[in-house]
Amino acid sequence: MSPKPDNKSFKSLLGRSPVMEAVIRTAQIAAATDVHILIEGETGTGKELLAQEIQSSSSRADEAFIIVNCAALPVELVESLLFGHERGAFTGAHERKEGYVQRAHRGTLFLDEIGELPLPIQAKLLRFIEYGESQRLGSGEIEYVDVRIIAATNRNLMNMVDTGGFRKDLFYRLNIVPMQLPPLRLRKRDITELAEHFLRQAAERNLSEPSKLTQDALEILKKYNWPGNIRELRNVCEHVTAVQPGESIKSEHLPLDVTARIAKPGSSTGFELPQEGLNMESLEIDLIQQALEYANGNKSEAARLLGLTRDAFLYRLKKHNL
Ligand SMILES: Nc1ncnc2c1ncn2[C@@H]1O[C@H](COP(=O)(O)OP(=O)(O)OP(=O)(O)O)[C@@H](O)[C@H]1O
Ligand SMILES: [Mg+2]
Repeated sequence: MSPKPDNKSFKSLLGRSPVMEAVIRTAQIAAATDVHILIEGETGTGKELLAQEIQSSSSRADEAFIIVNCAALPVELVESLLFGHERGAFTGAHERKEGYVQRAHRGTLFLDEIGELPLPIQAKLLRFIEYGESQRLGSGEIEYVDVRIIAATNRNLMNMVDTGGFRKDLFYRLNIVPMQLPPLRLRKRDITELAEHFLRQAAERNLSEPSKLTQDALEILKKYNWPGNIRELRNVCEHVTAVQPGESIKSEHLPLDVTARIAKPGSSTGFELPQEGLNMESLEIDLIQQALEYANGNKSEAARLLGLTRDAFLYRLKKHNL
């Protein structure tokens, strides 16, 4: 199969902050090859959308794109659903059946939430990736199938490898071109473009004019932390379109979930310690990265945003190898 590079691709992925541009550049290169891909990213950051874009700008674009949510596969059926089964392989197997793997032949298999795959199935998947060999449940025969795998996860697979929940060899086999979708809080400059897009989309569905965000509403959206990422932003845009169709959106029209979690001037920081606790080190790294993002990479400005002297800020950058 010949690679099909296409600079106009990935159009449905909006937002061109530097972190996002870097991901898209890597994805374009990967799409033009036939390597397996692992996409990591928090919930709602666009992993499925990115996988679809990679498929549709690859040489497999006209072939099947099979989506499998590994977390939703019943444990006792995972193997037969993925690799197929012979008639009589288990009680209730009345006929020979293809699995997702065979259905994706010549195309792409999107394995969402791959961290949820049971270890024995991970071993079978590794064999399939290494040699293209697949074996239906209840069969001694080996079939050869040509499939590109795009896997996605919102868990830290490397940590899972360390704790024995994910096979190291499978991790490295999938992670040839690592791709990490950044959380929305690390690309806040994309918020305006994304919000306007979702407001237009919601208005079309609503048969109304798009609602418009006032400056104060936009500022709140930019201060908010977006734990649900782009999906949450889309939901907020749908909410305000429903309450203020075609009108100006002021801060009071935003959902309470958002406004109540913004730090008020003069009050405490508004930061709430999660019940399960947090990792102070990661929090500091996260804050430093956000400050740099806000400040367009200007270190003095980033230091000011964090209430630090430039020297104290530089010390922390060095400490975290940033
Ligand atoms: N860059 C983007 N531009 C426009 N829309 C986006 C972008 N990223 C994500 N979306 C939209 O946000 C929603 C969530 O995206 P998607 O389902 O791909 O996220 P995900 O990372 O797979 O989430 P989860 O981990 O919860 O499965 C979708 O409606 C998708 O179309
Ligand atoms: Mg998804």
